[in-house]
Amino acid sequence: MRLYLRILHYLRPHLGALSLATVGMFAFAALDAFSLALLIPFLRTLFANEAGGAPADGPFERLLDGTVGRVVDLSGDPASVVRGIVLFIVGVVLVKNVFDFLRSYMSARVEQGVTRDLRNEVYDHLLELDLAFFGRTRTGQIISRLTHDVEQMRTLATRELTKALGSILEAIAAVALMLMISWKLTLAAFVVVPLTMGVWGPLLKKLRRGDRRVLDLAGEVTSHLEETLSGIRLVKSASAEAQERERFRGLTGSYFGTFVRTEKWRALAAPLTEMLAAVGTVVLLWYGSHLVLVTGELEGASFIGLLALSMRLYQPVKYLSKLPTLIQPGLVGAERVFEFLDAPVEIRDREGALPFPGLADRIEYRGVGFRYRPGEPVLEDVSFTVERGSVVALVGPSGAGKTTIVDLLGRFYEVSAGEILIDGVDIRDFTVRSLRSSLGIVSQETVLFHDSVAANIAYGVVDATRQTIEAAARAAHAHEFVTALPGGYDTLVGERGTELSGGQRQRIAIARAILRDPPILIFDEATSALDTESERLVQEAIGTLLEGRTVFVIAHRLSTVQKADQIIVIEGGRVIETGRHDALLESGGLYTRLYELQFADTASERSGGAT
Ligand SMILES: Nc1ncnc2c1ncn2[C@@H]1O[C@H](COP(=O)(O)OP(=O)(O)OP(=O)(O)O)[C@@H](O)[C@H]1O
Ligand SMILES: [Mg+2]
Repeated sequence: MRLYLRILHYLRPHLGALSLATVGMFAFAALDAFSLALLIPFLRTLFANEAGGAPADGPFERLLDGTVGRVVDLSGDPASVVRGIVLFIVGVVLVKNVFDFLRSYMSARVEQGVTRDLRNEVYDHLLELDLAFFGRTRTGQIISRLTHDVEQMRTLATRELTKALGSILEAIAAVALMLMISWKLTLAAFVVVPLTMGVWGPLLKKLRRGDRRVLDLAGEVTSHLEETLSGIRLVKSASAEAQERERFRGLTGSYFGTFVRTEKWRALAAPLTEMLAAVGTVVLLWYGSHLVLVTGELEGASFIGLLALSMRLYQPVKYLSKLPTLIQPGLVGAERVFEFLDAPVEIRDREGALPFPGLADRIEYRGVGFRYRPGEPVLEDVSFTVERGSVVALVGPSGAGKTTIVDLLGRFYEVSAGEILIDGVDIRDFTVRSLRSSLGIVSQETVLFHDSVAANIAYGVVDATRQTIEAAARAAHAHEFVTALPGGYDTLVGERGTELSGGQRQRIAIARAILRDPPILIFDEATSALDTESERLVQEAIGTLLEGRTVFVIAHRLSTVQKADQIIVIEGGRVIETGRHDALLESGGLYTRLYELQFADTASERSGGAT
């Protein structure tokens, strides 16, 4: 029930259009049924009351007198009465169709309005959610919820809802007229209703469970597809096509099985309804002719009119009885969309959080601990201090926790223990936005959006001009290769754009950081090897970037580390050593080993290459 209410909630902003649509539906339904009922005076005139009892002085007669009777003299010459009635029917149909337009147009407005609101709300929440959420949820599942499930839910909240409303009104109008004509016969035709109810309960339960499983599996299929796409290079180079195909077959196979099993139950619904309706029709025919022929309570023309109305009832009743099975996927979709919308945003501004005033003195990590998942500590008791304007290098083996340490500074994740202080103030006392906007981050993997080079450099900087973009690109040693691209700064890059090399991408990212001109800089060097020339260019670009800033650099390259004011050696989430290059080399610890293994290797390579 809460679920239904929450779905209906989305209609609230569109109550105006919805009421107009309802008015249209109501008028349409009433006029539609009435145009059928006009058969009765028509037939009556035609057969001149040959069959059955006399027209009773019931509510239906009064309705006729009040409407068509005002325009046509119903007791006049049969030929002109028939003509009059026919013309009257044409008029009714005309007006009915004006309302048909109103209901269709207004329904579409409601439908698309709800869709727009829902999409926007879901997207806003997507942007709000913490990185941790994206870490634990598969991208494909998220995409599936944002596309497929939203689609399902809006179909339910709008199309099925308006159709249901229309059908209910049509049914009510038809039944009301039928009751006016002969309440006895109408009630007799409805004996099948309680029967129908009994069939639905168990069926619905099965459908609900099946639909949920189908949507979950759809998410799995999308996830797998998405992972294959992003890792297509690896799949090919590892010749893992067969293995991936096998896994994908497994998923599509379960999807097929579950879908078909669920559909079996849904398919049963229609014939069941059909049979029950047939029972109703038989009762109607038998009892109706009894009333006309035996008791003479009902006039033949009225019987035929009532039959026509009951036929008209068939469509909406059929739809309404199928409705519970139709809305199941929508309900399940809504459930999954709401689960997404309810995923909490944990990293928020504290009450009374202040804008970050800028770094005056120092950044201090004090006993910082962190875990991505409960029971799996990634950082433990990490403490160090970085003076303003200095360069600190984080080094250590892969998976040591270097990226995690700098992610905590931008509050992409929240520390699990200890605190990070800037000029003595816990960073959780600053607003997230202001803190992040003073950080420039060049991350391990450069993300390029499908847009021009210029737009990629200027990403997030609203007042960038072509001059400032170019200046940043020059400083990042990117200007040369950018101007050599077919469209210069307007070349499309990123997904389905021109491919850039690793070194070029990095220089774009560095230009991005230079343009933002942040006081604190985080540079997470890519681990992938670059050729010597790009490496030299990237190196020079980094040199420009470091000037006059407070810098965290996660370094795999010799020169950056050697020049750093402080080197922090991390292993297994702990600080093992700190100091300057020479001092660390002298102490002969992990840094020396890493240096010999990694940095010395590249150093000798380089001197070898130079000769
Ligand atoms: N989003 C995440 N969810 C769960 N665990 C994670 C996540 N990101 C990293 N980890 C784990 O945390 C540990 C530290 O990872 P981190 O990325 O900080 O290492 P790193 O020192 O930057 O390594 P590299 O030099 O390879 O970049 C690793 O064991 C990693 O598996
Ligand atoms: Mg890393």
